[in-house]
Amino acid sequence: MRTQVAIIGGGPAGLLLGQLLRVNDIDSIIIERHAREHVLSRIRAGILETGLVNMMKSVGAGNRMEREKLVHTGVNISHGNTMFRVDFKSLINGHVTVYGQTELTRDLYEARDSAGCATYHECEDATPCDIETDRPYVAFRHKGAERKVYCDFIAGCDGFYGPSRQAIPVESRIEYSKTYPFGWLGILSETPPVAEDLIYASSKRGFALCSMRNRHLSRYYIQCPLADSPDKWGDDMFWDELKRRLPDFAADKIATGKSIEKSMAPLRSFVCEPMNWGRLYLCGDAAHIVPPTGAKGLNTAAGDVHYLFNALCWHYHDNDNESLLAYSKKALARVWKTQRFSWWMTNLLHRLDGQPEFERMMQKAELSLLSENRAAQEVMATNYTGMPY
Ligand code: FAD
Ligand code: DHB
Repeated sequence: MRTQVAIIGGGPAGLLLGQLLRVNDIDSIIIERHAREHVLSRIRAGILETGLVNMMKSVGAGNRMEREKLVHTGVNISHGNTMFRVDFKSLINGHVTVYGQTELTRDLYEARDSAGCATYHECEDATPCDIETDRPYVAFRHKGAERKVYCDFIAGCDGFYGPSRQAIPVESRIEYSKTYPFGWLGILSETPPVAEDLIYASSKRGFALCSMRNRHLSRYYIQCPLADSPDKWGDDMFWDELKRRLPDFAADKIATGKSIEKSMAPLRSFVCEPMNWGRLYLCGDAAHIVPPTGAKGLNTAAGDVHYLFNALCWHYHDNDNESLLAYSKKALARVWKTQRFSWWMTNLLHRLDGQPEFERMMQKAELSLLSENRAAQEVMATNYTGMPY
């Protein structure tokens, strides 16, 4: 088989890149490890920056999003029993869009199907090969048959555990990482959200987040020990703990119900440099991970896709390779800013066992500054709604 761009990974980064290439007459084949139903069963991000929303529209995959999305012009931050709002609209005329990653991925699959582009699911042992030559290919096994896709370029969009990053020689890559000693337990429930906007809650008992997918579907998270299994947390236990971490007026208003999904996510900061080797280009979680507190993972993946797609267009349509050469540097400049913001929000809002009292006072002072200082709020609003590409 032959294509122009072989994409490993049919998550949001791979699918979005494939559609952007498609509308610009560049062929791609997607090689995905799991069945489509599995990819669409993962509940992940919910908050989209405008840059990502605009890319979805530009590939004709934004119609359902336009109908079903919620627009949020601010977020609430609570601390003990007090709460303040960071109002993106009045601060920077900004907003974010609430629309689930699962739905966005479904819309991209439908757009890909309509365009008749090739996607191979349930592929085993996908491996980027000969990436330092001008005839790279991806080898994989599909339904028992060994396959090779020859291509001009390989896009490694295969998430944190995928094979693409490992194809960069170990002596040529630097991996920066930080793991956090706690996780997030998340539930989805068919109950109306507790508030119009999200609530990021810092409390003595740990962090909590009240989010949503739509007006009838809520998404809640609580910080908990990494070793806890979701099965240990019955629904009643979860609701009880969530309420204890929210201001009283919010806890009193929470509509509880049966959870329809419950999962645990570890928190990690990770960056691989460089994001390109030979004819292999990494996008999204394949190259970097953020703790979810700033809602930046999917949005940063979309930033990479933006840079790579433009560079490929210049290569194919204008015979200009400058942007491909600059891809890693350009993408990493934005990646590190989203890393900083995610790290900052995580440190601001979580409780650590054995945390020095001084650091807790620093969190308190930072929250106080953020609650009353417009400049501090502008910095947060600029980062949360999305740095420019
Ligand atoms: P992935 O979504 O991981 O997709 C990679 C794809 O590659 C997968 O389909 C996988 O099956 C496939 N793959 C893996 N290995 C192989 C292989 N060997 N061969 C072929 N295919 C392979 N981000 C936000 O921006 N906003 C949020 O609000 C937000 N909330 C989050 C909440 C939680 C609880 C979690 C866990 C994450 C959240 N994120 C958020 C992060 C976001 O979900 C990820 O950053 C995003 O999924 C990255 O997309 P991706 O396409 O790079 O990787
Ligand atoms: C959601 C997840 C996040 O990590 C976040 O910061 C905000 C919202 C969510 O799943 O809705």
